[in-house]
Amino acid sequence: MNVFDEFVIPASANHVLLVKYMLIISLLLFIPYTCMMLGASFISTYYNKKGKNEGNNLYLRFAKDIIEKLSIAPSAELALGSIPVISAFFAYAQLLYTAKTITMSMMALAVVLFIVSFVFLYKYRNTFRLGSVLHSLRKIAGKDALESTDENVKHVEEFEESVESSNSSTGNAGKWLLLTAVYIFAGTMALASNPDRWASVNNVLQIIFSMQTLFNFLAFASLAGIVTGGAIIFYFFSWNGGIEDMTDEYSALVKKAAGSVALWSGILFPLFLMISYAYLPAVAQSPGVFFYMVVVLIISLILGSFIYSMVKNSDTSSATTVFVLIIVLITVNIIKDQAAFGNAIHENTIEITKIAEEHEKEARNKTVSTTGIDAEAIFTQKCSACHKFDVKVVGPAYNQTVPKYNGDVQKLADYIFNPQKIDPAFPPMPNQGLKKKEANAMAKWLIDKVGKK
Ligand code: HEC
Repeated sequence: MNVFDEFVIPASANHVLLVKYMLIISLLLFIPYTCMMLGASFISTYYNKKGKNEGNNLYLRFAKDIIEKLSIAPSAELALGSIPVISAFFAYAQLLYTAKTITMSMMALAVVLFIVSFVFLYKYRNTFRLGSVLHSLRKIAGKDALESTDENVKHVEEFEESVESSNSSTGNAGKWLLLTAVYIFAGTMALASNPDRWASVNNVLQIIFSMQTLFNFLAFASLAGIVTGGAIIFYFFSWNGGIEDMTDEYSALVKKAAGSVALWSGILFPLFLMISYAYLPAVAQSPGVFFYMVVVLIISLILGSFIYSMVKNSDTSSATTVFVLIIVLITVNIIKDQAAFGNAIHENTIEITKIAEEHEKEARNKTVSTTGIDAEAIFTQKCSACHKFDVKVVGPAYNQTVPKYNGDVQKLADYIFNPQKIDPAFPPMPNQGLKKKEANAMAKWLIDKVGKK
C-alpha cells in the first residue's frame, strides 16, 4: 500500500460515503458493459471460426453483428469501460487506504488488462468493418479486376490477408485478456471483502487458487451470459426496431444462439451466486446483505421464466422487459456486493475517518492566523492570575485541560474567545475579552507549549 499512500488522499468522514456512491455508479456502468464485451467476444469468435471453417456466411454475419452491436460504439470503451474502471480503482484505493493488503496492486493489474483487452476487441470489431469494405470494393471493381495480374490488385489482396489474420488474432487475444482481467478482478473483490486474509495473501497465486475467487468468477461469467443473451435479443429485435434486413434464417440462428446462452446462464447464475455467498466471510455478512441476496435470487427467477418462455415460443416481444430486468438484477447485485464490502471494511473505515480528521485539523490549523501577536505577553497579563501549567490556581492546570483538545487549535480558540461552563469542580471562566486573532494565538501557543512537555 505504500505506493498508494503517496497519491491517494484519505477520504474524510463525509467523503467516505461519497466515495461509496461513486464506486456503485462506476460499477453500474462498468459491469454491464464488461459482461457484454466478455459474452460478445466469446460468442463472436466462436461463430467467426465456425463460419470460416464451414464457409457459412450466416455465422460470419452473426460474428460481425454481435461484436458491433454489443460493443456499442468506439467511444463506449472510454465512457463505459476505462473511465469507470479507473474511478472504481481509486474508490477502492481510498476505502482500503490503511488496509495492508495486495488487493490494490492486483486490481491495478486487472485494470491494465481490461483496458488492453478493450483495445484489442475494438480492433477486432474494426477488422470486420475493413473486411466488408474490401468486399464491397471487390464487387464494385467487378470480377475481372480480381483475375488481373496488376500490382495494385496484389496490394489489395495482401492487405486483405493481413486484415483476415488480424481479425482472428485480435479477437482471440482480446477475449482471453478480458477473461483474465475478469478473473483477477473477481479475485480482488473477493479478497477486499475478506480482511482476515489480507495479512496472509501476498501473491497472485493465492488469489487465483481460491474457492471464493472461483465462485465469484463463475457468478460473474454466468451473469455475463445472461446479459449477453438478453442484450443480443434486445439489440437484434427490439432496439430501434431491430437490425436491418433480418431474414427468417438469420433470425432463427440469433434466437437459438442467444436464447440458449441466456437460458443456461440463467440456470447457473443463482447456483453460483449462492455458493459464492456461502464463501462470504462472517464479517461481511449482515441481514441487509442477506436481504439483497434474496432479492437478487427472486429477480433472477423471474428473469429466468421470461427467458424460458422467450426461447420456448421463439417470441422476442418481451426483449425490452428482459433487458430492464437484467439492469435491475445487476443493480441489486452490485448493491449487495458493496454492502458486504462495507461490512467487511467497517473497522478500516473508522481508521480512515480518523486519519482524515487529523489531516483536516492540520489543514485548518494552518489557516488560523496568529501573526503579530505576543501570546506569552497576553498570558502574563490576562491568564496567569488564574492559570499555571502544572498546578491548578483559580482555573485548572493547562497540562490537565489543553491535551483534551487533541491539537485542535480552532476548537480551543473558540473556547478562549467565548468560555462555556465545563468542569463542575470550578467556577465558570470569565470572558477575557480577547479578539479572535488573540484567542487564536493563545490557543496555538498553549497547544505548542503543552505538546512539548
Ligand atoms: C478569573 C480567572 C481566570 C482567568 C483570568 C482565566 N481563566 Fe481560564 N479558566 C478559569 C476557570 C475557573 C476555568 C474552569 C472553567 C470550567 O471548567 O468551566 C478555566 C478554564 C480554562 C481552560 C480549560 C478549558 C477546558 O476545556 O476545560 C483553558 C484552556 C483556559 N481557561 C484558558 C485561559 C486563557 C488562555 C486565559 C487568558 C486569556 C484564561 N483562561 C484566563 C479561570 C480563569
